[in-house]
Amino acid sequence: MPTDTILSEVFPLGSRLNDLGRLEVGGCDTIELAREFGTPAYVVAEDDLRSRARAFVAAGRDAGHEDFHVVFASKAFPCTAVLELFAAEGLWCDVASAGELHLALNAGFAPARIVLHGNAKSEAELRSALERRVGLIVVDNFDEIDRLEHLLADGALGVSADGATAHQAVLARVTPDVRGDTHEKISTGQADSKFGFAGAQAGDALARLQRIDGLALQGLHAHIGSQLLELEPFRAAARELIKLGDFPVWDLGGGLGVRYLAEQAQPPTIEQYVGAIIDAARAARGGDQRLLIEPGRALSANAGVTLYTVESVKQNVSRWVAVDGGMSDNMRPMLYGAAYEAHVADRFGGAEACVLAGKHCESGDVIVRDARLDDPKPGDVVVTPATGAYGYAMANNYNGVPRPPVIFCKDGDARVVVRRESLEDLTMRDAV
Ligand code: LLP
Repeated sequence: MPTDTILSEVFPLGSRLNDLGRLEVGGCDTIELAREFGTPAYVVAEDDLRSRARAFVAAGRDAGHEDFHVVFASKAFPCTAVLELFAAEGLWCDVASAGELHLALNAGFAPARIVLHGNAKSEAELRSALERRVGLIVVDNFDEIDRLEHLLADGALGVSADGATAHQAVLARVTPDVRGDTHEKISTGQADSKFGFAGAQAGDALARLQRIDGLALQGLHAHIGSQLLELEPFRAAARELIKLGDFPVWDLGGGLGVRYLAEQAQPPTIEQYVGAIIDAARAARGGDQRLLIEPGRALSANAGVTLYTVESVKQNVSRWVAVDGGMSDNMRPMLYGAAYEAHVADRFGGAEACVLAGKHCESGDVIVRDARLDDPKPGDVVVTPATGAYGYAMANNYNGVPRPPVIFCKDGDARVVVRRESLEDLTMRDAV
């Protein structure tokens, strides 16, 4: 394989095959990374995260929208180093639990730039959001409204420094009954959804939220789904939202899809997506009122790759290449049938049909069903690109497998930002 091969955009920006034909990410040789830090490992190109954050912000600026904000959906990669980087780039942060709120605050997001989500927020979660004075609470259901009313009556907000009654800004999450073309498990815009207020309920919810002292209803939120590869559903959502009234703040959620395979069609670019959202909001609202979006996957998926080591190769009907990770570090193939590429990290361009299997005790633990690899052997390092979103986030300890480290790479320097879990970590919480 020639070493000047241009890698597809599935790989982090700046990735290349070096003189030895080995994959380099963030200027670091992945074979060396595997040697130094072990496998499996999540390897992230720091500059890639940064440049995507900048592209989102610049796209808003280029569209001339003064009050446009990019809110990182922390669920995509809830790791302190990632959050710190996005906080430093001026993004806001979407959190969906007390845990994500803790991570966001700990990483330095100003509370005013935090947006709290959730379809089952506990009283404790709401209380801590109120006490911390997060920027926005996105209200999902009538029980949550009851809970907020009770907490406010209980003085959870206190009074402002100037002695005036404090207010918590809220948005109402609504389901605009718009369906994007994506996996059913990550489609959320339809009326029959576990998220938000649908149809007629939305009017009642807005009226109630408007009447509660201590709440400032600022606007509407809609997230129609994830891994969306077309822009029309976003435009349709804007046309639906305006029917609910003219509010000063809109949050149109996340959802921009990414490329997982080189042969997959190019999704809309960040610029096209931001431009389309801004145009749609402008057309519906007749102006540039505050507009938020909440990208997760589009900020981090292609910034990361996972490195594995081959443990065994077996030929029966298929050629089974088993590696040292699997459904404990990437649940997406098993949950959504998500397709990934795989390559031997120092022999790209293989042609042998293989099944890249994980090490877990079930047949469903297949990372790539139709991998093409170059004569894989035990000890080889295999890389799967585009694992920077919802991999680390959904990692688990199935079969007692410790979770992988996160390694940031930049200009040829690698640093561990999350260490590998140890065997001791597996017994750390035992109460006996
Ligand atoms: N905002 C809200 C309210 C959300 O629920 C989500 C994702 C996002 C923003 C970010 O969406 P994104 O830009 O990443 O598409 N585990 C699944 C994805 C679940 C997405 C859940 N909500 C996966 O691995 O595909």
